[in-house]
Amino acid sequence: MRINWSCSHTVDSTWLQVMQNVADATEIVCGLSSLLIGLQICGDEEIRVLNRNFRNLDRATDVLSFPLIQYGPGKMLPDHPEYLKSVYDDEEGLYCLGDVIISADHVRQQALEYGHPEEREAAYLLVHAICHLMGYDHMNETEKKKMRMMEEKILESVGMGQSGETSTITDETLMELARRAMEHSYSPYSRFRVGAALLSTDGRIFQGCNVENASLGITCCAERTALFKAVSEGARSFSAIAIASVGTAPWPCGVCRHALYEFAPDLRVIVTWDQQKAEMSLKELLPHGFGPDELARGQKGTDR
Ligand code: THU
Repeated sequence: MRINWSCSHTVDSTWLQVMQNVADATEIVCGLSSLLIGLQICGDEEIRVLNRNFRNLDRATDVLSFPLIQYGPGKMLPDHPEYLKSVYDDEEGLYCLGDVIISADHVRQQALEYGHPEEREAAYLLVHAICHLMGYDHMNETEKKKMRMMEEKILESVGMGQSGETSTITDETLMELARRAMEHSYSPYSRFRVGAALLSTDGRIFQGCNVENASLGITCCAERTALFKAVSEGARSFSAIAIASVGTAPWPCGVCRHALYEFAPDLRVIVTWDQQKAEMSLKELLPHGFGPDELARGQKGTDR
């Protein structure tokens, strides 16, 4: 899902990553693609003004959503994708669902009250708002139940459901995120498209694709694109990577195996191509790897 961000409050980049992850998961769970939303992260003062202007309620709130689609009674997007036609943006090639406003002050406060991480609260509020943009509501018990079920299904798919600590993103979602990353592959020279989705142990998911260059040797593989994105956002520990391609099993190249080994020697490596799937551990793919532990052992006792 494309998010047009606008942040008037400084927030941790983890929030943005986790929010992007749940937005992408929403598309997958609902069987939709090419959706666009506007997302503004502001403070209590700003959301109070918007609440007053648009809803006549002169108080701050956690989240506001402004759907562009007028749904008929009881109609929601996953079952009625025909509604998307009315909000197709020719220039962008995307379906614009509407805008979401989230108060960072409320996110922080509510995270404290519920005793969970701030990014989890931010992600929950975004999923709630996107459900509104898809036609869900909570005016009566039946509607409310349907909305809660959809919210939970989306959060569960990225390991953020109510079952809590023990749950993790499903392999299917991770593979689908890799397939979707493959769509961005820049591979005019090899015409071999690769996408990757790397799961960090704090629950964030980083996507990457291969990025080629007219100077062929400086091409970056999908796996390293994802890894470098992750490390540069502060993630250092990873549990799984899904890699997608077409026509053949995209086992990572030697350079990528080594790059991943530095941070996660026990990584699960899942490859998917056409309708197929296979899995191996990084240790199987790179036996006797050379990592920080091996380096430290060799350095022991040397003084030069
Ligand atoms: N490629 C990857 O992205 N990952 C791998 O592990 C193997 C190869 C890309 C690099 C290049 O853009 C294309 O596939 C052909 O080598």
